[in-house]
Amino acid sequence: MRITIIGTGYVGLTTGVCFAELGHIVTCLDIDKEKINKLQKGECPLFEPGLDELLKKNSMAARLSFSDSYEEAVPNADVLFFCIDTPSGEYGRSNLTNLLAAAKTSARFIQNGVCLVNKSTAPVGTVQKIEETVRNIAPDKDFDVASNPEFLAEGKAVNNFLAPYRIVIGTHTKRAEGALKNVYAPLTEKGVPLISTSIPSAELIKYAANAFLAMKVSFINEIADFCELVGADITNVSTGMGLDPRIGDKFLHPGLGFGGSCFGKDVRALVHRGEEEGYEFKMIKALIEVNSVRYLIALTKLKKHLGSLQGKKITVLGLAYKAGTDDVRDAQSLRIVFELLDLGAEVHAYDPYAMQRFQNIFQRADEVHYASSASQALEGADAALILTEWEEFKNLNLQNIKERMGKSALIVDGRNMFDRTTVEDLGFTYEGVGR
Ligand code: UDX
Repeated sequence: MRITIIGTGYVGLTTGVCFAELGHIVTCLDIDKEKINKLQKGECPLFEPGLDELLKKNSMAARLSFSDSYEEAVPNADVLFFCIDTPSGEYGRSNLTNLLAAAKTSARFIQNGVCLVNKSTAPVGTVQKIEETVRNIAPDKDFDVASNPEFLAEGKAVNNFLAPYRIVIGTHTKRAEGALKNVYAPLTEKGVPLISTSIPSAELIKYAANAFLAMKVSFINEIADFCELVGADITNVSTGMGLDPRIGDKFLHPGLGFGGSCFGKDVRALVHRGEEEGYEFKMIKALIEVNSVRYLIALTKLKKHLGSLQGKKITVLGLAYKAGTDDVRDAQSLRIVFELLDLGAEVHAYDPYAMQRFQNIFQRADEVHYASSASQALEGADAALILTEWEEFKNLNLQNIKERMGKSALIVDGRNMFDRTTVEDLGFTYEGVGR
């Protein structure tokens, strides 16, 4: 099928590249000319494992092309996917300005029979808004609309796309349902389940799934705090809980709070959408509250051992909101480094992939010292603060690190990467989360 993807962020680009990999003829469209130039040269503008290779392979096979022109990319599409950012607006409301602007521009160029699919995470009712927007501009065109939420976790997005747990489509015509079933046939033929439902149900599945996962994280974070009070170990508690298949062992890893471009934004948008209907999401509000103060634990643990942080050299290991990505959107590192600087600490930082993006968005980026390796960053440090669970940190030569660090040699392990006994035997002071 001929597919056009509008938006080449993490979701749009992964979707476009993977649809080409499934054998479709794909055009990825973006108004960012610089990005399109890069993509046309086969350069991947973001770090997502496996994406670079597939991008090159499918471009070479002429199944994948890039354009900055709606006029060029929209008219030939059988199916058009919107993968546009929907940032958090006032009071957590989802800001649909960019998405509806893309719908408006597309409307001028669509052909009869096209299916317009929203993949951007946007509240229930958004597909209807897209339909109305397009209908106003192209009243005589015969088109369908649909919802097809994405469930791509950064760092695993290619695999999540090509081997998904499920595909969800929301349609209200047989023709749209047929078009989307054809798009995903290469996956459903291999046994991937496809849920075909109404448009509002499909839109809500995405929010409900993300809110539930975020709730699991906030839940285990609360249990972790309680573990510390009663001398329990969260690692064993999570394992003991997770072996029950009704609970499952995923998303039970405690830490300093979830981050990323989705969870925080999506849960706030769901609460706001509830309010519009006069409905209060009490549990979701609670998970947001738990997460909002989570980062403070890092500071409490540092102060517990170092006292005042004024002039102390604190090395932050990991700036990305999780391992496997260079993304720092809504990362706890942004809040924690800000507080550390406010408290007068000398902040050194190292991340294998995310340092550039951190510097691009952190307003006090110039006040941080960046290192080219973890061990360089730790030279003379009073404390190492681990914020991202990069495998590379697990493999650090701790004996060597101990010699490089200052006398106090404190490790605040925000991801519970290290075994307490091993680290303490080497002479470090160790603080994990919930144990
Ligand atoms: C999430 C959803 O998983 C994905 O399906 C959706 O489409 C987009 O949002 P993503 O934001 O990429 O994906 O990351 P995810 O792996 O879900 O992690 C989100 C945050 O929760 C990260 O900060 C992560 O470190 C944290 N987390 C996750 C925990 O703290 N503990 C866990 O057990 C799991």
